[in-house]
Amino acid sequence: CGIVALVGSREASPILLEGLKKLEYRGYDSAGLATVNTSKGSHKSFITCKKAKGKLINLLNLVEQDGAPGHIGIGHTRWATHGKPLEQNAHPHMDSVGEVAVVQNGIIENYTLLKKKLEDRGISFSSDTDTEVIPHLISEEIKRLKKDGHETNDQLFLLAVQTVLDYLEGSYALAVIWTATPDALIVAKSKAPLLIGFGEGEFLCASDTPAFAGFTRAVLSLEDQELALLTPLGVEIYNSSGERQYRSPSFINGYESDIEKGNFRHFMLKEIFEQPATADLWISRYLPDDLPVEAPVALPFDNSFFDPIEEIQILACGTSRHAAMVGAYLLEQFAGIPTTVFFASEFRYAAPPLAPNTLTIGVTQSGETADTLSALAMEHERRSACNDIAFASRQLGVTNMVESSLARQVSNILDIGAGLEVGVAATKTFLGQLLTFYGLAIMFAARRKARSANEILDLCNQLRSLPKQLRNLIETHNELTEKLSHQFSETKDVIFLGRGINYPIALEAALKLKEISYIHAEGYPAGEMKHGPIALLDKKVAVVSIATKGIVFEKALSNAQEAKARDACLIGIGPKVPETDIFDHLLPIPQVSEWISPLLTIIPMQLLSYHIAAHRGLDVDQPRNLAKSVTVE
Ligand code: G6P
Repeated sequence: CGIVALVGSREASPILLEGLKKLEYRGYDSAGLATVNTSKGSHKSFITCKKAKGKLINLLNLVEQDGAPGHIGIGHTRWATHGKPLEQNAHPHMDSVGEVAVVQNGIIENYTLLKKKLEDRGISFSSDTDTEVIPHLISEEIKRLKKDGHETNDQLFLLAVQTVLDYLEGSYALAVIWTATPDALIVAKSKAPLLIGFGEGEFLCASDTPAFAGFTRAVLSLEDQELALLTPLGVEIYNSSGERQYRSPSFINGYESDIEKGNFRHFMLKEIFEQPATADLWISRYLPDDLPVEAPVALPFDNSFFDPIEEIQILACGTSRHAAMVGAYLLEQFAGIPTTVFFASEFRYAAPPLAPNTLTIGVTQSGETADTLSALAMEHERRSACNDIAFASRQLGVTNMVESSLARQVSNILDIGAGLEVGVAATKTFLGQLLTFYGLAIMFAARRKARSANEILDLCNQLRSLPKQLRNLIETHNELTEKLSHQFSETKDVIFLGRGINYPIALEAALKLKEISYIHAEGYPAGEMKHGPIALLDKKVAVVSIATKGIVFEKALSNAQEAKARDACLIGIGPKVPETDIFDHLLPIPQVSEWISPLLTIIPMQLLSYHIAAHRGLDVDQPRNLAKSVTVE
């Protein structure tokens, strides 16, 4: 989910909606906003709350039609956790009398207990969300404090929110408005990001920096357990003991604000076509040809960083984990350094025993995935608790968003530099992540002298010729896969097979197809198919097999033959040579070294998924139930 909040002198709703648009990558099940306004005659303030199920456009239309007056307000774009994606579960949530409204990103883990206590006091709930307990609790606390005869409304508001925060367990970033303080709003956070942007006489809070594009570049990040009171006059930050904190904002670089689809039908297709440019940029930045043999990659930290490292562990989710798996193959097989990839969500609760001199790499294109951030934080904490230098915390973040939560959490960052990716299904950022791992593997191999200077130079040169190969491949395969996609109209199951360095590409291909076409797909190591999945095969199942030249070429072909013998429709991704005649359809790949083959085999996979989904008329860029990055654990 994404939250925004604004206080200032302009109409709040257009700015809130603009901010929400930039945060839609965090969820698009439903959206809502609430503003406070004071009626001229009576001087009485009231909250206008508008919510709509589905994409942000529905809320936009609603606000355009009904209006939401006021110079102060809060907004939310949701990825459902507790409660179905219905209008009643959309944020903001309000107290029973409509005087307090709250938006929240995170999960209140003890909400059932809190809800029960409130219900016992006669309060009824209008949603199934965990968030709704917060406005009710604040409202109750305000009533209690009022009885005690407390100070000004601002102070009372602060005190009430502060008290309620102590009741909440879990993670949250939240923003609250109250009708009795029509010039103030409160924001707070714990284990979920929240930033305050400083405009001229106005302040915008948001979950992530893209929301500030076109508003301000001066941004301050709220720390865990802090709370801030915002009025048009300024920002007051307090820690959990109520002590005032003083910090200045820092300047962010800003983001491209309006990205267009150009002549492409979907952002995903545009982003697939942008991959040669991603590679070009990566090569000019990290692989210029004038670097010395002992440090052939231009990485933004001291090369001695690599020397003490004996082992690597990589934490990531979804597509990023698949890039990490190719990375692990390269780091182990090319650079000779033991590497393990973990699902970030599993690592946090079942980490392996501490090993010495270990580098932990977090991979997340958005830099906002909660599972990855939490796993990195946990690892940092347990290593910081050791007094032995060999077990010190050494972390590296790989991301496409250099101003994300990841970049604030981890000091060594490698920017994949793919440019903003709009399509929920990652394509060019996956390529950027792969390239980053090639850079790291080359660097480790050079520093550890695991490969000869010639082998390293050879891999560097192959990478330098990649953009041209990608350009040709995308052009050809766009046509081929579009034609092939028509045969998938009735398909219900697809199995992707790969081996060695291309096994993670089979996993990624299956994930892509699932994400955007809703077709059931499995990625399998080709040699493992005979140990179970082969039972699924008949003529209705499509099998896509990656068979590139290299140590497992013949074996991959034999595994494909096993599928063909069970009547499966067989699609091959490999070189056009006599051996690959076995395939019913071949998506040809030039003969390149096995090392760089994943950078090419991924292209037909992405295009095939894209065309199958587009042919079915689906919402390719914003598939159902997904978010580009999931910001709750
Ligand atoms: C979500 C998306 C996936 C993505 C994953 C990790 O689940 O739907 O497509 O791969 O998050 O995102 P990240 O930003 O951490 O790379």
